[in-house]
Amino acid sequence: MNLLDRILYKWLFRSLANQLLITYLLVITLSLVFVSLWALVAIRKESLTDLQNTMEVEAINLGLEIDNDLVLDSPLSRQRIQAAVERRATRLGVSIVVVDKDGRLLADSQPIAQKENLSNEQEINEALAGVISKTTRSEPASNLNMLYVACPVRSMGETTGVIRVGVQLTQIERRLQKDLIVFLEIILATGVITVFISLLMARRLNRPVQEMSALAKQISISGDFSAFLPVRRQDEIGELCLSFNQMIGRLREQERVRQEFISNASHELKTPTMAIGSVVDAMLAGASEDPKLRAQFLGSLERLVERQTSLIQDLLDISKLDSGLDSNWQEEVSIVSLVNDTVEQLRPQADKKQISISTQMTLDSAGGNDLVVLGNGSQLQRAITNVLQNAINYTPAGGSVSVSARAVGGDKLEIKVQDTGVGIDSADLPHIFDRFYRADKARTRETGGTGLGLAIVREIIARHHGSMDVESLVGRGSTFVILIPLRQSGPEGA
Ligand SMILES: Nc1ncnc2c1ncn2[C@@H]1O[C@H](COP(=O)(O)OP(=O)(O)OP(=O)(O)O)[C@@H](O)[C@H]1O
Ligand SMILES: [Mg+2]
Repeated sequence: MNLLDRILYKWLFRSLANQLLITYLLVITLSLVFVSLWALVAIRKESLTDLQNTMEVEAINLGLEIDNDLVLDSPLSRQRIQAAVERRATRLGVSIVVVDKDGRLLADSQPIAQKENLSNEQEINEALAGVISKTTRSEPASNLNMLYVACPVRSMGETTGVIRVGVQLTQIERRLQKDLIVFLEIILATGVITVFISLLMARRLNRPVQEMSALAKQISISGDFSAFLPVRRQDEIGELCLSFNQMIGRLREQERVRQEFISNASHELKTPTMAIGSVVDAMLAGASEDPKLRAQFLGSLERLVERQTSLIQDLLDISKLDSGLDSNWQEEVSIVSLVNDTVEQLRPQADKKQISISTQMTLDSAGGNDLVVLGNGSQLQRAITNVLQNAINYTPAGGSVSVSARAVGGDKLEIKVQDTGVGIDSADLPHIFDRFYRADKARTRETGGTGLGLAIVREIIARHHGSMDVESLVGRGSTFVILIPLRQSGPEGA
């Protein structure tokens, strides 16, 4: 590619405005050229027909004027014919010849000597045969393009001679040239106006695109989501700017959530780590000598490490769910055994707190033996465990928890976990599914919660295309309801 090519390439293909401009120009110029050519051809045809008609009328009129003299064929009559021919030719600016019935030249409007006998010329020959003849040809002698109209002169049914009117086609051509120049001027003027208008239009279209591209570049370099695009238009480009802004807004929100998550996670990790540090310090300082103290310190170390491990596990789980990686989400999961297993795993904890757990399973209304959903069994078990664990954690000793599963509306599974616990304040309800959110910070720190449990549940249920709802009254208890689409059994299952 040479330099010019490269500059042109850059100018054209790196700019939307220039591409639009060139397209407009090409379309308009091409259509103008096409229309002009078409008009010129039509004008030429029309002018020729007009001219031929006028020439024919003149020839006929001249014929009427000289038909007697043609028959007489005397020197005097010849003079009269010559005079009539010259008069008419001068008036019209054409050349006229008159020949007798044998094609011999009788009169000529032009001084240049013609051939004596013109019967060989095509149009004269045809006119002598009695028809009006029109031809265009180039005269070898003068090298001029001529249009000829030859008319027979008749007297008493006999052809007594022929009048031929001739005109140089250059006259018409000159007129056409003038028209062509006018057309070219129009094309040029339209071209200039088009360039101007399309430049304006292209700039108008291009400006938001350029702004968008600049902002996208700035964001990709700096990662700063603070700036928005100005929305000045209401068309598709305006809509694009709006969507772009919405996207920035979302990214900004995601970035905020991400940073908050990291800061919360670090904080949550720091607390037990520092506690572990203090216990270890105390033991190094001599507390490990006393067997009673040592057992006590080791006990707290064990609890702290457990808490740390479970927090790290939660963080890993949630980031795995976020990244979308992870296991199969298309397993057939039978819910009845899953819920029963989960309840049995947590029953010892409930027993310890003297909380009774009851379960109620309503089997598939379609007559199947189980409630089956498509998804991931261990993740679903994790979700139910978290909800049930909360019910046990936030219910005082002597309370009760009930778990039920049933099909609703024929195509959904409903899992309900109800407790008679402390309940959740209505101000906290909208936030309990947020990461690290705890309704009562002091109380939950005692029970060891980090506020990730329900956030994990929400992600898992979303992965199953399900939804979650909660109702709660402070001091009376809470009810968590999970809805997940049931596997639609095919014809073989029905
Ligand atoms: N059944 C319930 N009864 C009363 N409060 C509840 C119940 N379930 C959840 N909560 C409130 O919602 C908050 C968020 O619950 P979540 O399970 O997400 O976190 P957590 O239990 O504090 O910690 P963890 O991450 O260990 O589960 C809890 O701190 C608690 O205040
Ligand atoms: Mg919890």
